[in-house]
Amino acid sequence: MKKMMMALACSAVSVVVADGPVQFVDCPKCDKRMRISENGREAFVNLSRIDPERKAEMAERAKRLLALGAPVSPANPKTPLMGWSSWNTFGVDISEEVILGIARAMATNGLKDAGYVYVNIDDGFFWGHGPDGRLRFHPERFPNGMKGTVDGIHALGLKAGTYSDAGADTCGSMWSGSGSGGKDTGGVGAGLYGHDAADCALHFNELGFDFIKVDYCGGKKLKLDERMRYTEIADAIKATGRSDVRFNICRWAFPGTWVADVAGSWRTTGDIRANWKSVRRIIAENLYLSAYASPGHFNDLDMLEVGQIEGAVKSVFGKHGDTGLTLDEETTHFGMWCIMSSPLLLGCDVRTMPPATKKLVTNPYLVRMNQDPLGLQAYVAVREGDAYVLVKDADERFGRSRYVALYNAGDSEHEFTVTAKSLDLGGKIAAFDLVERADVGEFEGNVAVKVRPHAAKFYRFDAERRIDRGAYEAETAYLTDYSEIGEGSAAPEGSGRKRARWTETAGASGGVAVTDLGGRASNDIVWKDVHVSEGGPYRLVFRCASPERRFFSMQVDGGAATPLVSEPSPGGFADVSTEVVLSAGTHSVRLSNADASMPDVDVMYLARKE
Ligand code: GLA
Repeated sequence: MKKMMMALACSAVSVVVADGPVQFVDCPKCDKRMRISENGREAFVNLSRIDPERKAEMAERAKRLLALGAPVSPANPKTPLMGWSSWNTFGVDISEEVILGIARAMATNGLKDAGYVYVNIDDGFFWGHGPDGRLRFHPERFPNGMKGTVDGIHALGLKAGTYSDAGADTCGSMWSGSGSGGKDTGGVGAGLYGHDAADCALHFNELGFDFIKVDYCGGKKLKLDERMRYTEIADAIKATGRSDVRFNICRWAFPGTWVADVAGSWRTTGDIRANWKSVRRIIAENLYLSAYASPGHFNDLDMLEVGQIEGAVKSVFGKHGDTGLTLDEETTHFGMWCIMSSPLLLGCDVRTMPPATKKLVTNPYLVRMNQDPLGLQAYVAVREGDAYVLVKDADERFGRSRYVALYNAGDSEHEFTVTAKSLDLGGKIAAFDLVERADVGEFEGNVAVKVRPHAAKFYRFDAERRIDRGAYEAETAYLTDYSEIGEGSAAPEGSGRKRARWTETAGASGGVAVTDLGGRASNDIVWKDVHVSEGGPYRLVFRCASPERRFFSMQVDGGAATPLVSEPSPGGFADVSTEVVLSAGTHSVRLSNADASMPDVDVMYLARKE
C-alpha cells in the first residue's frame, strides 16, 4: 500500500512516497540514487537521480539490497571467524574482569548482533604446567581459574576462544607483551608440547572453549616441523570429540598448502600494529594468496586495529608502533580484511569503542562481503603502481554480481579508470557503495573514480551481463608447493630446487609473475577456476620468460598432457600458444614439468576461437 510520508533521509526533499520499506524521495541536492538507513530497515530512492520510468525497477533493487543487509548467520564454520581478541589492546595484561566486561559489551552494544560472537583470550592466562602435568592459570589474572570466564561468555550467547603454542613456551614469555614491560613468566612451559591430549581435553571438554589459536614462538625455539606438529595438534583436537572447535595456526607466514587440511585459518604475516605502514604491509603480503582460500579455510591477516585512531590509541603497545590510523586508513583496513575474507577479530577495547568505528564494523554490507557464502578471497584484477583493483564474486560463482575494491596504497590521490571488461562484467552496471550504504549510479564501459591516499572504495557491482574472464594472472593461480616458510630454500623433498612463488617482475602484466616453477610434479601452477560459458574450441596463450629453451606440459582437468615449449626470451616475455576444446563450465588448467625448470609464467589468456 502506498502512502504519503514525511522525508527522513534528506533535507531538500519535496515528495515522499513509500512502498513498504522503500521510500521515494525527491532530493536534487543529494548525489546518490539510493541510500539505506543506518538501521537497515528502509531504503530511500532519490527520484531526482533516476528516470521516473524506472521507479519500479529501483524499488525492486532497493528491496534486494535491503535483504542483503540482513544479519549474517553467526559462527558459520564455512565463513571467516568473527569476534574479538585480547592481544592488540591488552597484551598479557588480561583478567577475568576484562574478558567478561568485553563479552558483556559485545552482547549488548550491537557487535554480537552483527556477527561478532567469538571472545578470544590470547597469551597471558596461564601459569605453566604443574608437576602433575595439568595446565595452571595465572594466580592474579584468573584467580578463579577459567571455568567461570568461559561459562560467563557462553551465558551471554557468545563463544569462547583460547590460546597456546605448538612448543613449550609462549611468545609472551619471550617478548614483552605487558604494559609493565618484561617477559611473562607464566608462559614458560605453558605450551601444548608434551601436553596435547591433556590440554585439549581441558580446553574443549572440561572448560568448553570453542576456538584455539596456536602460536609458534615455542615451536620455533624447539625447531619443530610445522606440518607435523600442527597436524598432531589438529588430531588432538579431533580426539576430544568436539568437531565444532575452530583452529587457527599462527606461524606468521603462509605455511604451505597442507594447512587447509589442518586448520580453519592461518596467519600469513608478522604481527600487526596500529599504524598505516603495518596495515599496508599486511595487505601487500596477502594480495596474491587468493587461490589458497576456500570455504572454511582462510588466510588470516591478523587481529584488527580498527578503533585505534590517531591521537586516541589505547593499547599496551603504544611505545611499540601503535601510533594509530586515520579514519580513511581505518576504513581501508576493515574493508580490505572483509574483501580478502580474513577472520574479523576486533582488537580494540570494545567497551569504549569510538562510535564511527562501531558503525564501520557493524556495517552489514561490508560484513556480508566478508561472510559471503562462496568463501572466496578477492584477487587483484588490475594494478597501476600502488593502486589496485580487487574483485570477487558475490552470492553466486560466475554470476552478474561482484564485490570490488579500489585500493589506493599510495601517498597521493589516484584516479582509477575502472573498465567493466577487466572485471568480467558487461552491459549496464549498478554500483552500490558498501561503506556509504548507497547506490551511487550506473556506468557502462568504464568509470573514473578518485580515491584519496591510503583510502579505498568498496562496491557491489550488479551487471547486466557476466562475461568470461580473458586474463588469468599467474599470481592468482594455485601453486601446489607454495610456502613462505624457508622461502627460497630447497624444497623438503631434497630435490635442490626452490619452490614456485609470486615475484615482482618488471614487464609482467600486473607487475608480478610466478617464478621457480618445475623440477617436481608438485611444483606446478594450476588455475582451478577456468570458466567458459560456451563450449567449443579455445585458444590459450601463456606469457612466459626463460633464459633458454624450456619444456613443460599442460593438462586440462587432469587429462592428457600437451607438450609446450618456451623459446629464449631475453629481457621479456614471449607467448606460447595452444588450443583446446572446452565444454561449457569450470575447468582446471595445470602447467608442470616434473624433471626440469619451467619458464616463468606471467599470465594465461583465454579466448574463444572463431
Ligand atoms: C605472537 C602472535 C600474536 C600474539 C602474541 C602473544 O606474537 O603473532 O598474535 O598472539 O604472540 O604473545
